[in-house]
Amino acid sequence: MPAPIPAAATAPLELAIVLPTLNERDNIAPLIERIEAALGTGGWEVLVVDDNSSDGTAEEARQLSLTDPRLRVIQRIGRRGLASAAIEGFCATAAPYVAVMDADHQHDPALLRPMLASVKAGEAEVAVASRFAEGASTAEWNRPDREKLSSIANRLARRLTGVDLSDPMSGYFLLPTATARRLVPNLSGIGFKILLDLLATANPPLTVKDFPMNFSARRSGESKLDRAIAFDFLAGLYDKSFGRIIPTRFALFATVGVLGVVVHMAILYACLLAFGATFAWGQAAATFGAMSFNFWLNNWLTYRDSRLESAAALLKGWVSFIVACSIGAFANVAVATTLHDYGVHTLPAALVGIAIGSVWNYALSSRFVWGRF
Ligand code: GDD
Ligand code: MN
Repeated sequence: MPAPIPAAATAPLELAIVLPTLNERDNIAPLIERIEAALGTGGWEVLVVDDNSSDGTAEEARQLSLTDPRLRVIQRIGRRGLASAAIEGFCATAAPYVAVMDADHQHDPALLRPMLASVKAGEAEVAVASRFAEGASTAEWNRPDREKLSSIANRLARRLTGVDLSDPMSGYFLLPTATARRLVPNLSGIGFKILLDLLATANPPLTVKDFPMNFSARRSGESKLDRAIAFDFLAGLYDKSFGRIIPTRFALFATVGVLGVVVHMAILYACLLAFGATFAWGQAAATFGAMSFNFWLNNWLTYRDSRLESAAALLKGWVSFIVACSIGAFANVAVATTLHDYGVHTLPAALVGIAIGSVWNYALSSRFVWGRF
């Protein structure tokens, strides 16, 4: 006779818990235990969405799931971001409700049960665990700098979404999976602020209920968001306001390009005035310098989610960037000269050349320098 199927395996799946991870290897197993303590043995699953962590988080999760099928792993290669990881989770589960939480134990799984009960009972469409609601605490966190940043960001966010909630940047929330999936096609998916993204996209607005939480210190490893957080937030605001007209990444690329012009001029004048170089040599050095500067800054900022890190990748990227930009420069000069020959004034002809050159550089480099093809 076959062995009886344990109750856990037969309880219908109700809740998926999405854990976005980046180097959280030692946090997974203890977190599963805490989730089980909070929710009981069945009716839930955990989706670890790992962005190819170098500490072997995905491997560790796969090991655990060999004996615990409630745990599944999605390992993403060449992609980055907390928000897009959460989206991946929404689309990969059959559970009717989905929660997103940090894998580092800063979020207490004990809140999952009341949050689920509240959404199921229709008290609100989204349950949000809040660090700043009445009764919450962040004492163990002990990061006054981050708290201050959060309070500024929260004020902006409330204005943007029109939803009055105390912690729109929270990384811990729960909602019906169908609601999340319905919004996915219109989410920006950039950076970390997935809850804000959902709330700003929903029309009519979603109803929200706050759950005060005690935000603890992280259990092991280090925060990945400290440095990126302010930048991601601004990029997200831009994306929601103008992103449809000029895509965020292109806007960044173009801004870097403008800074490149400044660098170009600085090098050119330095060569001419300080080193007595001829104009041709100065211009050549400045072009090379500006291209290298642009490569570095784009790698650091525009493509921070697929940043080239190893020396070999950097060298290859730098050379391909210079090749790509040379083609762009050629297109730029060709178009501008043609227009000029047809009697278009100098300034508009030059600007059209620059615009065409930049779009071309952007298209080539996003594909051949930072993309996979
Ligand atoms: N897959 C994936 N990809 N996971 C990521 C990435 C990423 O690019 N970046 C961070 N994570 C994971 C971490 O491994 C962790 O499980 C969770 O997302 C939160 O990251 P932390 O690095 O622990 O963030 P934090 O503690 O500094 O930030 C807290 O405050 C933010 C708002 O101020 C968290 O609670 C965030 O969720 C919250 O948005
Ligand atoms: Mn954390």
